[in-house]
Amino acid sequence: MLKTQVAIIGGGPSGVLLALLLAQEGIAVTVLERASRVHVLARIRAGVLESTTVDLLHRAGVGERLGLEGKLHRGTGIAWGHEQTYLIDSYAATQRYFTTYGQTAIQEDLYAAAEARGLTIHFDVSDIEIDGLTDNPRIRCQIGQHTHTLACDFVAGCDGFHGISRQAIPNDILKTFERTYPFGWMGVLSETKPLDDIWYVHHADGFALASMRNPKLSRYYVQCPADDRLEDWSDDRFWETLLRRFPSHLAAQIETGPSIEKSIAPLRSFVAEPMRYGALFLVGDAAHIVPPTGAKGLNLACSDVYYLWRGLTQWYQEKDPHWLDAYSPTALTRVWKTVRFSWWLTNLLHCYPDQTPFDLKTQESELASITESPAGRQWFAEQYAGYPIEDWG
Ligand code: APR
Ligand code: PHB
Repeated sequence: MLKTQVAIIGGGPSGVLLALLLAQEGIAVTVLERASRVHVLARIRAGVLESTTVDLLHRAGVGERLGLEGKLHRGTGIAWGHEQTYLIDSYAATQRYFTTYGQTAIQEDLYAAAEARGLTIHFDVSDIEIDGLTDNPRIRCQIGQHTHTLACDFVAGCDGFHGISRQAIPNDILKTFERTYPFGWMGVLSETKPLDDIWYVHHADGFALASMRNPKLSRYYVQCPADDRLEDWSDDRFWETLLRRFPSHLAAQIETGPSIEKSIAPLRSFVAEPMRYGALFLVGDAAHIVPPTGAKGLNLACSDVYYLWRGLTQWYQEKDPHWLDAYSPTALTRVWKTVRFSWWLTNLLHCYPDQTPFDLKTQESELASITESPAGRQWFAEQYAGYPIEDWG
């Protein structure tokens, strides 16, 4: 039988960041990832990092390339009503910058650090089963041709929304809360010079967003019907839709070019409670999903990682369960505030299929009210820059 202290299911950003932080404390970890390394690295996700996320990556010793290549931003742009634009200066409001740096690059940095430190990540692991969560935690799984049993003290469920960890919590204990949205985001990556800032655009035809990965790589999105297929979206149709939704002075600055990646993402809000059952702790997308408006998914995963790292370290170093017992309620408090912000920003900026001209006018008026008011800008900035992490030591 194999043995470890913390078995980590899932080798995405949550799983590997947690593994690196725990290993730094001398805690034995084993990471089990269902997909191949190539598959994980091919996923294109968001790329906006709160300052606490950046700090945590530095603490894990994976901040070097991020420090060199990440771009610091003082604020974010919002546009509506064809020509109205406002740059919300979140630095002035919070004294915190945020950074654009792609999740794919973070995943590369995490894998490189794991390799450099001799921390093995098992890829292509199948048939994972979790047992004994209330008395004798065990994981059974298939690695290559062999079936293994792994004995551990704790299991970190970092296996994303479609993982199996959440299902290990009995139905009479697990509560889930969900909202799906009747639209998706059609996203394009292109080797073109991005705009200087991130722009969120409200338009009567639907939402649009300009973002970036590096000085030569742009990421753009347009709202599309939830059941649209990729074949419906030629590059020409995408650019034409994007440019029509952007205010003309910004559209004039957007460089278009061939797409190098295209995808349609559904929008969903989801929370599972509690985030702990016996020896199992849910982390990141395994416990919650936010729509991408506001780019909070990865940042929320990182605050979970921080809380669990703090709890497990205190447990192993001092045999004190205080922070481990506080994990689920503490993480959920921050999760719900962030879920609320992402839901609110999604409602404010998107066009619903049954939307009336009245709804459109109230959205535009809300955008004007927020940006005209110092208190409104402050409130928006605090949430966009990210809620503080409790006891951020
Ligand atoms: N066994 C092992 N691994 C699994 C299993 C399973 N049964 N099911 C899923 N996985 C793996 C997936 O292949 C994936 O690599 O778990 C990983 C989960 O990674 P993510 O889905 O990226 O979730 P997480 O690590 O929590 O990352 C935070 O927040 O909003 C998002 O874009 C953001 O992906 C980011 C996420
Ligand atoms: C991205 O860069 O992909 C991005 C930026 C901001 C968002 C969502 C995604 O709100």
